[in-house]
This record gives sequence, structure tokens and C-alpha cells, in this order.
Amino acid sequence: MHHFSYRDGSLFAEDVDLRRIADEVGTPVYVYSSATIERHYRLFEAAVKAAAPTGKAHVFYAMKANGNLGVLKTLAALGAGADTVSEGEVRKALAAGFPPERIVFSGVGKSESELRYAVEQGIYQVNIETEGELDLLSRVAGLLGKRQEAVFRVNPDIGAGGHAKITTGSSENKFGVSFEEVSRLYTRAANMPGVRMMGLALHIGSQIRETESYEAAYTKMVALVGSLRAEGHRVDRLDLGGGLGIPYEIPKDFSHGPDLIEAYAEMVGLVTRGLDVELGFEPGRLIVGNAGILLTRVLHLNPRPTKQFLVVDAAMNDLVRPAMYEAYHEIWPVSEPEAGAAEVAYDVVGPICESGDTFTAGRLLPALRPDDLIAFMTAGAYGASMSSTYNQRLLVPEVLVKGAEYAVTRPRQSYEDLLGTDRAPPWLA
Ligand SMILES: Cc1ncc(COP(=O)(O)O)c(C=O)c1O
Repeated sequence: MHHFSYRDGSLFAEDVDLRRIADEVGTPVYVYSSATIERHYRLFEAAVKAAAPTGKAHVFYAMKANGNLGVLKTLAALGAGADTVSEGEVRKALAAGFPPERIVFSGVGKSESELRYAVEQGIYQVNIETEGELDLLSRVAGLLGKRQEAVFRVNPDIGAGGHAKITTGSSENKFGVSFEEVSRLYTRAANMPGVRMMGLALHIGSQIRETESYEAAYTKMVALVGSLRAEGHRVDRLDLGGGLGIPYEIPKDFSHGPDLIEAYAEMVGLVTRGLDVELGFEPGRLIVGNAGILLTRVLHLNPRPTKQFLVVDAAMNDLVRPAMYEAYHEIWPVSEPEAGAAEVAYDVVGPICESGDTFTAGRLLPALRPDDLIAFMTAGAYGASMSSTYNQRLLVPEVLVKGAEYAVTRPRQSYEDLLGTDRAPPWLA
């Protein structure tokens, strides 16, 4: 369910005509819908709170999915926590108004200075991924005279996800400490001055559209909670990660109920029934994925004997998911196509000098012309947050819509900003 729909022949984000945003902000531009973000967050939070065995469930929005300040402030105001993976994300979460006690710091390789910063801020929890990190955290926190609350991110050897590059839970993946090591590490940690182990975490992958792999992984974790407790360890928290997938293929009359969220919450409730733990969740894509679109303008048509290229002003540096994960995005023309309008098969491509800069091949769309606007749907997650300046293109701007209002929450980068960050070496200055 999202709040992008046709009205009077034009595609709107909530009550704002996308043509207006394109004219006033320019293209390409990401446009996010506050109502959609709020709806997804509320649905998810209510479902997991109701399912949690102690009624205690904390939702830490995985801000890597979309770290736009407007999006973060929207979620912070709803009471969400933040799941962060770098000092930059911790800093941005704090700047957006997430209190430290609602911030979790995950990530495979945290540096000493990053850990020091996070501990100084008094964040809620560090998710430790290696034995070296356990030692480092204890040393860093000890020097600050603190004892940082932490959990072990465990690799359950059950991976899942929509693509090999976003599967994280298999023992072949780099993430987390191995299942067999947790008991030994817990025992070691008990004697360390700078950490207080509070429980366990896992995250098995992204764009997961079923509950079976979760169930298998969570069942293993619940058993591990039991065995650690039997050894006398304190296990108060179980952070179940993120990864719930979203429908990328959406018919225009889409009115999808929150089925997967409900099925997931029900499974969580069953697997953790009777377990005295506080649950944590780290959803990213589910909250913001279909709350955002990438709005782009057709630049040129390039007909070939066998195909027709549609060259648009967005490129793989703005939205890398198709090039990186072979990801599918619906394309909706901003001018509503007439019912039964003839369709043309287009290869939709960007201006970057790589054949991989192809959003889709052979996609049937109503006939389009230069200057027409189209929207890549479901681009709110891992869109702008993965954008770059490749080919010396300006970072794409971002706009947040709320009702009939919109605000530019990240202006288009300027050429001064782009060129001004480089420094010539003294021998060539
Ligand atoms: C540790 C961790 N938590 C949560 C997430 C969010 O995943 P998703 O956006 O699929 O919910 C990720 C994504 O990579 C992650 O690495």
C-alpha cells in the first residue's frame, strides 16, 4: 500500500502533482511520501508489539535503507529507534532526533574511533560481530569508564533474501560470530570490564518474502537463549534483525493488505512464546521501500532495428539496484496512459558510459516522447542512500511530501560542491 496515485490524468504523491515537483526541483529527483512511511512503521510496530512474548518490542529503523533527514525525522517522531552501521549513521541519527537510548550500532567492521564515539554518546546497544570487536569495545568503553550494553550478532547459518548479494545469514557470509562460538564468547565477556552482554542478534538477509527461513533461524536462536541461560548467562534481549521484503511488482489498482507483516508477526509470536526476552527488530526496506519513487525525464529516443532505447536523465549512479542486483522497478508514466493505449517495448537506459546503466530491457510502456516524465516506483529503499557521483554527476535531490505540502530535504548538489571537494597535489597545483 502506498500513496502514489493518478488524479485527473497525472501521478500524485499524496496531494502533490509530481509534474509540479519536476518543474520546481528538476529531475532526476527522489520523492517520498510521509503517509506511506508512517503507515508502514505503525503497522509493523503494532504487529510485533502484539506478538512479543513480554509485550516489549523495540523497532530500530535500519537507516541504511534511506538516511534522508526528513525520513529520519518522520520516524524519530513516531518513536522509532535507529539501527546504524557507521559513525556517520550514528551522528545522523542523533542529528535527526533519535535519542541515544534508541540507537543500535551494528556492522561487520567497526573501528576504534567509531566505537568510542558511539559509547561516548551512550547508545542503547552495540551488536558485536567478531571476537576482536568484543575486545576492542571492552577496551574502548573501559577507558571511558563505561560498561557498554551489547549483544552478539550470531550467524545462524540460515541465509535468505531476494539476491545472493543481500543474503547475510549463511555461514559463507561475512556477518556475525559463528553459532558454535557464542557460549565461549559470552563466558569471556563476563570477565571484561567494558561490556555488559545483554543478549543476541541476527539478521539473515534482505527482501525476504516468506517466513520459513526466519522461522528456522529464530528457532535456533531461541534454543541458544535457553542453553546460554542454562550456563548462567544473562540473555534479556533478542534482536531479530530486518529483511522483510516488499512487492516490487504492483498493479495500478494495488491494495495489498499487510499480509506478510501479519504472517511474520504471528510466526515471531509462536517461535518466542513463553520466552522472557525483549525483542528488537531492524526493518529498513519494509518501512521506506514503496514510500519513495525516482522521478525522471525522458531525454531522447534511440531507435535500433531490433529495439528502442529510451534515454532518461536518471542513471545507475542515482538508482543502482537494477545494475547491482538485477532488481525490478515498475515504471509509471506521470501522465496517466489512456486505457488500451498502444504499448512500445523500451530498453530504459541512463546517460552513464556503461551498458550496465540499463534500468530495464524490453519493458512495455505507452509510447513516450522526450520531456515526458516517468517514475521508477518502489525506489524509497537503497535508492538515494546508495547513490554516487559516478561520471561526475550531481547527487540526486530528495523531496518529502506531506499531504499537499512538499519540502526539498536534500537539495541537488551544486557543481561547486562536487568539484570543490577535490584537492590538487602540490606538485601540480
Ligand atoms: C544488520 C542489518 N539490520 C537490518 C537491515 C535492514 O534490512 P532490510 O532493509 O532488508 O529490512 C540490514 C540490511 O542490510 C542489516 O544489515
